[in-house]
Formats: sequence, structure tokens, C-alpha cells
Amino acid sequence: MAKPPSFLTAIFEEDIKIKEERPKVTLTFAQSLDAKIAGVGGKQLILSGRESMVMTHWMRTVHDGILVGVGTALNDDPQLNTRHLPAGVPHSLPIPVVMDRRCRLAVDCKLIRNYAEGRGKQPWVIYSKTEDTEVLERKEKLESSGAKIIESDENNGFFPGVSGVLRTLYSLGIRSLMVEGGAQIIDSFARSGLVDRLVVTVAPVVVGPLGIGYTLDPASLARLSFQATEGVGIDHIIGFLSK
Ligand SMILES: NC(=O)c1ccc[n+]([C@@H]2O[C@H](COP(=O)([O-])OP(=O)(O)OC[C@H]3O[C@@H](n4cnc5c(N)ncnc54)[C@H](OP(=O)(O)O)[C@@H]3O)[C@@H](O)[C@H]2O)c1
Repeated sequence: MAKPPSFLTAIFEEDIKIKEERPKVTLTFAQSLDAKIAGVGGKQLILSGRESMVMTHWMRTVHDGILVGVGTALNDDPQLNTRHLPAGVPHSLPIPVVMDRRCRLAVDCKLIRNYAEGRGKQPWVIYSKTEDTEVLERKEKLESSGAKIIESDENNGFFPGVSGVLRTLYSLGIRSLMVEGGAQIIDSFARSGLVDRLVVTVAPVVVGPLGIGYTLDPASLARLSFQATEGVGIDHIIGFLSK
């Protein structure tokens, strides 16, 4: 397996103490020089170079779960696996988790197909309890396609949604969670104050003003301290750890 930067392995070896019953959370994403995470209209961009992509896939192996919002799941149809790591080296695969209050995930998405074809773990969909028949129909279809549907009462509203979801995931055995975006999820997790590690990949490209950016409220990240910046291939990786 390609070696991740030493400061990054150190961040993951650090024994973080948390009071709440929740997984340890790593928030991570790739951005351009002008702080965009996607192109015009949300067009998916492969911002990371080859080496930092491998590093991101290595990070996935040290987490029990990997989470995205349904916006990313619908837009990018991600696989959230470790396919860029060298074949033949055994490593663990995180459980894919989608925050999807209204069960909008497509039944033929790659996460579900990979699971059905034995090439991925069962995707978990976190939805909000509802009486809405359209949502309940979609929920049933997702369930019969193979997704595990998890109810979270507290998944309403952005900020409280995060703590409720983390408690639920902890109760299901997830002790470490890698959160990969997109924009709304980055904002929600940052504002929740429940991020223990932040790893940002900065790629040497400019997307332009019409690309999709993200917000990080400075107060929300006050719990984190800067660790190091290191070049990986053509990108720079910036790491923060909870104080
Ligand atoms: N560069 C990168 O590293 C990177 C990584 C990932 C994605 N992206 C880009 O990000 C874009 C997608 O971002 P996005 O903002 O549209 O979608 P998103 O953040 O992936 O998903 C947002 C959706 O998640 C659901 N959700 C459920 N609970 C939530 C909570 N507590 N907080 C926030 N959302 C919650 C909401 O839908 P419901 O209300 O229906 O549940 C919400 O609309 C795409 O263009 C993608 O390419 C970039």
C-alpha cells in the first residue's frame, strides 16, 4: 500500500478522547485553489491528483464508516470504496452511509449495485421518520434493493441532525467515521462542533466563480488545531486534530 504522509498517520494514531457516545469523526474533502469542491452546477470534478487519491483511499481503510449526503450520492454516484489501493494487500472497507432524510437515493446507484454484485459493503441510508407515502414507497424500494434503512428521529434540521445521526451510528457499532461531503454536509458537520480530524486536499487548479464552494464557520472549528501541511504528488494536504 502506498505510504500516507507521516503526519497523517500520526493524526490517526492519536488517541482522541470524546465524552459523547459517538464515532470519532474525520471531515475530509478536496478543493481547488479558489476553494471550490465541484464545478459549475455541481459538476463532479476529480480535483485530487493520483497520489492524494490513493491517500484518501488509504484514509478510508482506517474508518468503520464513510458518509456522504444524498446530494453527492445523486450527483456523483460514488462507490466510496478503496479501489485505488494496490490489489492483493488486505485492508478493511468502510460501510458506506448516506444521509438521506427522504430516501432519494437511486435504487440502481453504484453503492447498491456493488453490494448486490458482492463488490461492496451494504450501504446504509439514514432517513427521517415520516408519514409521507412517497417517501415510504421509496424507502421500501431501497430496502428491497439491498440498502439498510436506518431511522433517525433527530435527522431533522441540520445542526441537531448530525449529533443524532452520530449517536445512531455509534449504537450500530461505528466507532470511526470519515465524512466526505458534499457542501451541505461539510457545513453541517463543521457547525456541529463534532469533528475530531479535518483533512483538506488542496489541488493546484482554479475552478472559477461559478463552481460550488463550501462554508466553514471559524467558530465551529475552534476545537481543532493545525498539525501540518505536506505535499502529496501535485497537491497539498492540510491536517487538523482536535485539541
Ligand atoms: N471535492 C470534494 O471533496 C467533494 C466531495 C463530495 C461531494 N462534492 C460535491 O458536492 C456537491 C454536492 O453537495 P450538496 O451540498 O449538493 O449535497 P450533500 O452535502 O452531499 O447532500 C446534502 C443533502 O443531504 C441531506 N441531508 C440529510 N441530513 C443532512 C444534514 N444534517 N445536513 C446537511 N444535509 C443533510 C439533505 O437532503 P434531504 O433533506 O433530502 O435529506 C441535503 O440536501 C456535488 O457537486 C459533489 O460533486 C465534492
